[in-house]
Amino acid sequence: MQLRKFTQGDIQTVRLFDKKHAPHPPKYHIDTTNELTSFFNKKSFVCYGLYHDRVMVGHVSYWKDTKNIYYLNALVIHTQHRKKGLASNVFNKIKEEIKEKGGKEIFLTVSPLNKDAISFYEKQGFKVYNSKTDVYSLGSDRLYMKFTL
Ligand SMILES: CC(C)(COP(=O)(O)OP(=O)(O)OC[C@H]1O[C@@H](n2cnc3c(N)ncnc32)[C@H](O)[C@@H]1OP(=O)(O)O)[C@@H](O)C(=O)NCCC(=O)NCCS
Repeated sequence: MQLRKFTQGDIQTVRLFDKKHAPHPPKYHIDTTNELTSFFNKKSFVCYGLYHDRVMVGHVSYWKDTKNIYYLNALVIHTQHRKKGLASNVFNKIKEEIKEKGGKEIFLTVSPLNKDAISFYEKQGFKVYNSKTDVYSLGSDRLYMKFTL
């Protein structure tokens, strides 16, 4: 698997990929061009496209806030390439990258309905530390998870 650094110019590639491989549910909150643009405008935002034999098999992104706290923004694997260890592999890579940048913890939020992702994150060592209702809109609940590096 190769990682290719994505830029603003890859936004439509990400959107098209998510349309096919991350439909609702889970309620995937970065599904508009505007939201992705604002993420790419953050200086700390890092997004990789994942490729295997020139085929895009996923993407992953993270960013850091002004308090030096890291957030996993998105991690999506092609439906036909799941359960092969790709997400674990890429999470290990970005974990090391964040560690090298001085990060101590990684935070994320996930829909409580997204059981696959919750199992995946728990397997990586994330722990649920909070939950909130109606976060993005009515009925959009989120679990808050944290990973200690
Ligand atoms: C969550 C996701 C990224 C996992 O990707 P993946 O490449 O299939 O994950 P891996 O193969 O590395 O799985 C590693 C471990 O995670 C857990 N896991 C992964 N998918 C799972 C599933 N569908 N059900 C239960 N556990 C799962 C398992 O423990 C698995 O280990 P195992 O294969 O030995 O059982 C993928 O299902 C996905 O893209 N989902 C849609 C997008 C999404 O919801 N992203 C998260 C948004 S917050």
